[in-house]
Amino acid sequence: MIVGPRIQLRALERSDLALLVGWRNDPAIYRWFFEHEPLSLARQEVWFEQLQQKREEWLWLAETRDEQDVVGMIGLSKVDWRNRRAEMGRLIVSPGHRRHGYAREMGELVLNYAFGHLNLHRVTLEVFAENTAAIAAYTHLGFREEGCLRQHVFADGRYQDVLLMAKIQPET
Ligand SMILES: CC(C)(COP(=O)(O)OP(=O)(O)OC[C@H]1O[C@@H](n2cnc3c(N)ncnc32)[C@H](O)[C@@H]1OP(=O)(O)O)[C@@H](O)C(=O)NCCC(=O)NCCS
Repeated sequence: MIVGPRIQLRALERSDLALLVGWRNDPAIYRWFFEHEPLSLARQEVWFEQLQQKREEWLWLAETRDEQDVVGMIGLSKVDWRNRRAEMGRLIVSPGHRRHGYAREMGELVLNYAFGHLNLHRVTLEVFAENTAAIAAYTHLGFREEGCLRQHVFADGRYQDVLLMAKIQPET
């Protein structure tokens, strides 16, 4: 458990998979993800089994500390130990919990874990250039834009730009 002031990040359990399927099948959410196809619970279960074999890919659910209400999820993957970097992603805050600072707290907890526990040096991410809410949240967390992958993803019938953002380990 990674514990913050209001929320805690815990490992994903099999019993959470229906919730994930609901999120990933919501057009307002999946439009911001690079791959999407209508997702069944059975398919999500296969993915979950594979995730259990991967020691260096993390997906956490964020829940409130008081009621243990699930408010979202966030992940860290693609760890490169030689260059001490990884990619943050799979960020979702459930629609009913937005604009309460949860994405910011979740991001802070993951960055603290990445820099302070895993001893990484750099955390990167990719985000649709049109995803203003996510870009604003990442900017609040100290991520800086490093480049634009022009027309990188074909989604919703057109090619869309993707921004590369990164945050370097804070100097101590
Ligand atoms: C992006 C997302 C995770 C933000 O979650 P959130 O919990 O609402 O964000 P926070 O409340 O922590 O907001 C942090 C800052 O981000 C900015 N922000 C968040 N939502 C915003 C919005 N809809 N419009 C403009 N700015 C926004 C604000 O600057 C906010 O600070 P403020 O509330 O003090 O002004 C959420 O909207 C979401 O799940 N979207 C769908 C999935 C998605 O796009 N994931 C990212 C994939 S890369």
